[in-house]
Amino acid sequence: MVKIAPSLLSADFTRLADEIRSIEESGADIVHLDIMDGHFVPNITFGPFVVKQIRALTKLPLDAHLMIEDPGQFLQAFKDAGSDWITVHVETERHLHRTLQQIRAIGCKAGVSLNPHTGLDWLPSVADLMDLVLVMTVNPGFGAQKYIPAAAAKIRDIAAFRAKHKLPFEISVDGGINEQTAPEVIGLGADILVAGNAFFSRPAAERPALLRRLRSHGK
Ligand code: DX5
Ligand code: ZN
Repeated sequence: MVKIAPSLLSADFTRLADEIRSIEESGADIVHLDIMDGHFVPNITFGPFVVKQIRALTKLPLDAHLMIEDPGQFLQAFKDAGSDWITVHVETERHLHRTLQQIRAIGCKAGVSLNPHTGLDWLPSVADLMDLVLVMTVNPGFGAQKYIPAAAAKIRDIAAFRAKHKLPFEISVDGGINEQTAPEVIGLGADILVAGNAFFSRPAAERPALLRRLRSHGK
């Protein structure tokens, strides 16, 4: 069954505890944390200080999606703050192989994210070092953007590579995911759907049903 990871980027941070409780009560699987530095992406969000406070509010796995330059220097800080998964962008890494080794060495699951324009040249050389591929279907930086179908097409190639080599990593898709776009990405092979605006733009009472509808298109 497909997993759902609500992205806090669209949450009301003045009511953070309520929003986290709503994520849990909706039956979601993972909390997706968008970490932005104003350099790699044209927006700034929050860092380990806030992740630590989120950690205290939930037992759900936390995926720290690092949209920051030089992520290697912050891995330990995000681990110490309570991240279960640390996902870095291919485009920020001169040493992707080493960074993924380091993420696992500190006891986190290692994820690789890629922008809509980025190809899959890097995949064979690090495929056994990662637990997650996070395919961006918008240009990272903001919530509530429009889904880019050409970016999602890579999911099929990643899933085919995974099957061919019998690898266990999961495939997540991030950006513009809603009831209209979920069937397509699930059909392409996504295991995890990140949903920011689709989740938080609805009243809390409607979120459990939304998750059921998103999943009902799944395997
Ligand atoms: C964008 C972030 C996404 C974003 C998704 O840079 O990586 O996680 O929150 O939000 P929606 O679902 O609104 O596109
Ligand atoms: Zn994200």
